[in-house]
Amino acid sequence: MPAREARACFREISRLISVSLVLTDLLCGIIAFNLDLENPAVYSGPPGSYFGYSVDFYHPTQDRSAVSVLVGAPKANTTQPGIVEGGAVYYCSWPPSEQDSCREIPFDKANNRMIKVNGTREPLEYKSYQWFGATVRTHRGKVVACAPLYHWRTVKVSGEMDPVGTCYVAVQNFSAYAEYSPCRTHNSDPEGQGFCQAGFSVDFTKDGTLVLGGPGSFYWQGQVITAGVAEILNGYSLKAILRKVQGEKQTAAASDDYDDSYLGYSVAVGEFTGDSRQELVAGVPRGAQNFGYVAVINSSSLSLVQNFTGEQMASYFGYTVAVTDINGDGLDDVLVGAPLYMDREFESKPREVGRVYLYLQEDTLLFSASIMLTGIHLFGRYGSAIAPLGDINQDGYLDVAVGAPFAGQDRDGCVFIYNGEKSGLRLKASQVLKGSWATTGIPAGFGFTLRGDSDLDNNQYPDLIVGAFGADKVMVYR
Ligand SMILES: *[C@@H]1O[C@H](CO)[C@@H](O)[C@H](O)[C@H]1NC(C)=O
Ligand SMILES: *[C@@H]1O[C@H](CO)[C@@H](O)[C@H](O)[C@H]1NC(C)=O
Ligand SMILES: *[C@@H]1O[C@H](CO)[C@@H](O)[C@H](O)[C@H]1NC(C)=O
Ligand SMILES: *[C@@H]1O[C@H](CO)[C@@H](O)[C@H](O)[C@H]1NC(C)=O
Ligand SMILES: *[C@@H]1O[C@H](CO)[C@@H](O)[C@H](O)[C@H]1NC(C)=O
Repeated sequence: MPAREARACFREISRLISVSLVLTDLLCGIIAFNLDLENPAVYSGPPGSYFGYSVDFYHPTQDRSAVSVLVGAPKANTTQPGIVEGGAVYYCSWPPSEQDSCREIPFDKANNRMIKVNGTREPLEYKSYQWFGATVRTHRGKVVACAPLYHWRTVKVSGEMDPVGTCYVAVQNFSAYAEYSPCRTHNSDPEGQGFCQAGFSVDFTKDGTLVLGGPGSFYWQGQVITAGVAEILNGYSLKAILRKVQGEKQTAAASDDYDDSYLGYSVAVGEFTGDSRQELVAGVPRGAQNFGYVAVINSSSLSLVQNFTGEQMASYFGYTVAVTDINGDGLDDVLVGAPLYMDREFESKPREVGRVYLYLQEDTLLFSASIMLTGIHLFGRYGSAIAPLGDINQDGYLDVAVGAPFAGQDRDGCVFIYNGEKSGLRLKASQVLKGSWATTGIPAGFGFTLRGDSDLDNNQYPDLIVGAFGADKVMVYR
């Protein structure tokens, strides 16, 4: 039903044209301070760099006028000598200007480090095609960006190429940097941490502790790792290849029943136990016999506290997770994306549309049955990204955005905005943002990455960043 799909995406435009409806809204006293869909600000990156694969706001100081946008471009060519498509993260000043809005942040300017093995010098690591900038996250002045496909040679005489992944942190407005590669250990190979891909997902707790997912460790059981940024910087040296950061925590290997689960494919944090220490939330999209689950993890002991299990096999439940208080009761709620969910309403013709599940926290570790939002576009990958938005319509309840990056007839991508309310979530989207980049080869992926809940233009309304890596573009909606 392409006509209907197109109409759904254009609904907002027709709503704007329909003056009588707008008047009715005003007469009914409905306050609708929503996002301005007509005039997003746009940043562009180098062609083919996947600029917009990851995005975040950056607030280095309390000075509100100093907010900017960070954009990951994991296939960008950098100035690193001898490295091809190492990937980069750009600092994009607000507002975008005609030229030079975005500058590469010099997290790492170096070539591969070398070691001497049996008398010959060999690369110790392989930064080409490492996907640096696949993830980026900020916490006030702290920034982390990762290269989940960074390989290193391992400590073995023969040498291997293990995709352990690595991350860089920056503090003091990019004046101090340190590398952090928690899976680059003696525990190599697939059965150890050799295929960890640390930094595949990243977040910070509210007190600024770094949380990393490494979904490939221990035959793809995956793991979650936490460390303090101050501890990562303290005593950091480029020469310390195998380094244990003080206070670092890592979930351990479990029995082989847990192989191929991908713990840490996604990570978030929230408060679910009524104490002052946030829990970790981690997607395990191939766990539970491929139904997927999301684990709530005690951040002190890293033991499992609770889990939410997926509804349908191979739906990739836990591909993404988000935490926000949707119903204004002061308790964190959990949202989980399953972008490969198939609608089986007509058994003979299942449609892969994607689904998002919302679990309202009713009390300490007590959650409502899931509230479900289902995609409408075939192969749209609805639920690939979920972003808490803050209160965009200023009604006292927090709002959320869901991306369907390949939705629509031309696979342009859509982003759906939902408003929180006392009983949970209004199931009908209040706004639909639509990508407008024609497909040339890869789809634009508008809505593959979303970040909200920060105010760039200092008008007291939170803004939304939407990445479209296939078009090397980032949009800011205000
Ligand atoms: C990066 O440089 C290599 C070699 O010059 C080139 O083949 C490749 O297309 C470039 N990639 C991007 C994304 O510009
Ligand atoms: C080290 O080099 C020697 C001489 O070239 C060679 O015989 C030996 O096999 C090498 N050892 C390893 C582990 O590669
Ligand atoms: C922070 O760093 C950015 C990027 O290098 C720079 O443009 C900005 O002026 C710096 N801000 C302060 C307060 O130093
Ligand atoms: C988390 O683990 C710590 C340390 O083992 C323990 O003291 C605390 O009670 C646990 N919290 C919860 C909510 O289980
Ligand atoms: C997770 O959920 C599954 C299915 O409900 C259950 O069998 C398992 O014990 C749970 N694990 C934890 C740690 O709660």
